[in-house]
Amino acid sequence: MKRTIIITGGAGFIGSHVVRLFVNKYPEYKIINLDKLTYAGNLANLKDVEDKPNYKFVKMDICDFEGVYKLMQDEHVDGVIHLAAESHVDRSIKDPFTFAQTNVMGTLSLLQSAKLYWESLPEKWEGKRFYHISTDEVYGALELTHPQGIEPPFSTKASSGKHHLAYGDKFFTEDLKYLPHSPYSAAKAASDHFVRAFHDTYGLPTVVTNCSNNYGPYQFPEKLIPLFINNIRHRKPLPVYGKGENVRDWLYVEDHARAIDLIFHEGKIAETYNIGGFNEWKNIDLIKVLINTVDRLLGRGEGEDLNLITYVTDRAGHDMRYAIDSTKLQKELGWEPSLQFEEGIEKTVRWYLDNQEWMDNVTSGDYQKYYEEMYKGR
Ligand code: NAD
Ligand code: TYD
Repeated sequence: MKRTIIITGGAGFIGSHVVRLFVNKYPEYKIINLDKLTYAGNLANLKDVEDKPNYKFVKMDICDFEGVYKLMQDEHVDGVIHLAAESHVDRSIKDPFTFAQTNVMGTLSLLQSAKLYWESLPEKWEGKRFYHISTDEVYGALELTHPQGIEPPFSTKASSGKHHLAYGDKFFTEDLKYLPHSPYSAAKAASDHFVRAFHDTYGLPTVVTNCSNNYGPYQFPEKLIPLFINNIRHRKPLPVYGKGENVRDWLYVEDHARAIDLIFHEGKIAETYNIGGFNEWKNIDLIKVLINTVDRLLGRGEGEDLNLITYVTDRAGHDMRYAIDSTKLQKELGWEPSLQFEEGIEKTVRWYLDNQEWMDNVTSGDYQKYYEEMYKGR
C-alpha cells in the first residue's frame, strides 16, 4: 500500500532513527521529515537516507498552522508520526514558554491541520492515523522504596543481563493519573490531553505512546549519556545531580523506533501504550558503567576516570524514579526490547567514540555558551 507520512522532529535523536527505519523498510511510502532544525535538529543524522527517492525534508515549524495545513493538502498526507518537541528538562526549567509554545501549540497546530484536511476528504478518517509520541515523565515520579534493588515482577529476553533490578514496587501503567512536575513534562502532558480530546471530540484517529528514557547514537550531548561519554573522553568533570540516586528506565533507541513502527501499523485507535526498557538504573551506577566502558575502549586503566564524578546541586523538582510497565504492549502487540543493556551501552559508547566529528560539529557554535550557563554556580 502506498502511504504518505509526515514524521515531525525527524532530524532529532529519536526522529532520525524512526525516519531511517521507515525510509529503508517501506520503499513504497513517501516519508516527509518536517523539522524546524532547532539546536537539537541535525540533518547530518540522516546522511545515509537523504538521497533515497521516498524521502523528503521540509524545513518548517510545527506551530506554522497555515504551512502545515497546506503541506498536508499538497502531499495528500494520510499519516502523522509526531516527535517534534523541546525535549530537555533542564532547558524547560530555564525557559518554560518555549516548551509550551512548541509542545502544546505546535501539537495543536498539527492536530487541527490533520483534522481539517482529513475531514474534507470523501473517505474522511479511513486509512488515516495521527500518532503522538510522548514520555513517561507525564506520570510524575515513583518512589525509591527499595534503594538496594529487588527482583522486578517481569522479565524479558533483554532484561536478563547481569543487572536486573527494580528500585520500587510500583511502575507506570497506562491507567495512571497524569502528575507532571517539570515544565517539560507539563507541556508534554498538555499535548497528550489535546490529542485525546481531538479523538473524543472530532473522531480523529489517534494513538499515543509514553516511552522511558532512550539512549543510542545521535543524541544531543545535553542529555546524560552522550554528555558524560564526551566528558569522560576529554577528562572533563561529570556533573552528577544530587546524590546520583535517581533512577531511570533506559531503552535502546532502535527498540523504540521498532515499537513506533509496530504501533503506527497495528496499534488500536484511541489507545495508549507504554514503552519501556524493563531496565532500571540508578544514575550513579550507570555513570560508573559509562566510565568503565569508555576507559576500556580507549585503552585506559579500569576505573581511571572515576575521579571525574563531581556531585553538584540537584536539579529543581528532580523526579526520583521512572519505571515503565510495558506489559500491555508486550501482550497485545508482541513487542519487547531486543537488546540487553550491556550490549546497547557498548554499541552506544563505541558509536560516540567513533564519531568524534559528529560530536565536534554539534558542540561547536553556541554549545559552549549553553554548557557554561547550564552548569554555572552548581
Ligand atoms: P530531540 O530534542 O533530540 O529532537 C527534537 C526535534 O524536534 C529536533 O530535530 C528539532 O529540530 C525538532 N523541533 C523542535 N521544535 C520544533 C518545531 N517547533 N517545529 C518543528 N520541529 C521542531 O528530541 P528526542 O529526544 O528525539 O525526542 C523526540 C520525541 O520523543 C519528543 O516528543 C520527546 O518528548 C519524546 N520522548 C523522548 C525521550 C528521550 O529519552 N529522548 C523519551 C520519551 C519520549
Ligand atoms: P536526562 O538525560 O536529562 O533525562 P531526563 O531528565 O529526561 O530523565 O537525565 C537523566 C538523569 O541524569 C536525570 O536523573 C538527571 C541526571 N543528570 C545528571 O545527574 N547530570 C547531568 O548533567 C544531566 C544532563 C542529567
